[in-house]
Amino acid sequence: MADATSAGAGGGGVPDGDRNKLADRYKNYFPIGAAVDSQSYMTHAALLKTHFNSVTAENEMKFESLQRTEGNFTYDAADRIVSFAVASNMKIRGHALVWHSQNPSWLFSNGAGGTVSKEALLARMNSHISNVVRHFEGKVYAWDVVNEAMMEDGTYRTGNLADGQRSRWYEILGESYIAEAFKLAHAADPDAKLFYNDFYNYLPAKQQGIYKMLKGLLDQGVPVHGVGLQAHLNIEPSTVSTNQAYYQRVANMEEAIKLYSSLGLEVQVTELDISLYIPGVTYNPSTFYTTATFTDELKAKQAARYGEFFELFRKYRSVISGVTFWGIADDNTWLSEFSSGRKDFPLLFDVDHDPKPAYDAVVDF
Ligand code: XIL
Repeated sequence: MADATSAGAGGGGVPDGDRNKLADRYKNYFPIGAAVDSQSYMTHAALLKTHFNSVTAENEMKFESLQRTEGNFTYDAADRIVSFAVASNMKIRGHALVWHSQNPSWLFSNGAGGTVSKEALLARMNSHISNVVRHFEGKVYAWDVVNEAMMEDGTYRTGNLADGQRSRWYEILGESYIAEAFKLAHAADPDAKLFYNDFYNYLPAKQQGIYKMLKGLLDQGVPVHGVGLQAHLNIEPSTVSTNQAYYQRVANMEEAIKLYSSLGLEVQVTELDISLYIPGVTYNPSTFYTTATFTDELKAKQAARYGEFFELFRKYRSVISGVTFWGIADDNTWLSEFSSGRKDFPLLFDVDHDPKPAYDAVVDF
């Protein structure tokens, strides 16, 4: 692993010590986080401690990880990450309490081959949120309470979708599951900052839908404090006008930040990465990127894209209270975990944990 002091040249006016440490460089802006897993907080500890001051557990605080069987809460893996973060003086974001994905199968079942009743599901939601939020009280400062409840067209994610996409929470409880989840989380830890988290916030219809939903919640007095922009981005917008990523532009992301913050909500970038693949383009094993085909030109292009999004984030530092990457270095990213075998290189540090041109673009301002 390279010495962190070898990071980037240039960047007029950047104090050297600060350029070499990402979170220090952003100390007057917002905390810089990374998603970690049960291994990476150890294998990538040097990078984490040097450059980041916040962590999110990538999977270890999801419903299926914490309550695989009803009533048996398993906190060991999450607690190890939390202990590391506390010992390293890092903030901890909790992710995620209520989501349509990564749930244990018992959750929506009545145990007799049918669907759980509305009352029983509410009781399960109550038990899960109360237990989990109290367990991490004083350590987890912010929770993604509800994740991905909206569709691209700004309507709710319902139960009438393909498996893996549908929301059984909505199907069984209706849209009130969202307000309920926030109220329960607030009751469990009144000091925790509660977030609504979602992806494709640059889509005009989706950002309007999220805005309307949040406004409705706030009007009813539901305790929502912030919005998480996942920000799984691509190296360039799609050229296909029917593809969601056609709208993946800085100006559209800016609209989302303006809209949400106009409600008095904080904004956090919660799952940032920039994939080399362009949505709408067909790839096959011969065009999948490798460390050899991730050329200097592509690295520069990715760096420029990181640069323009961070310029936006800095501009909104008064409302942005955190920016978290979905991983630490390119040797450990969810984007390379798909069964296709397709590798991706979406983060600021390379497979050897050395800073990439993207790193320089983020710290040189
Ligand atoms: C992903 C993890 O990174 C993977 O390891 C896991 O297999 C699936 O979930 N949006 C979210 C995150 O809110 O929880 C997802 O994390 C990525 C997309």
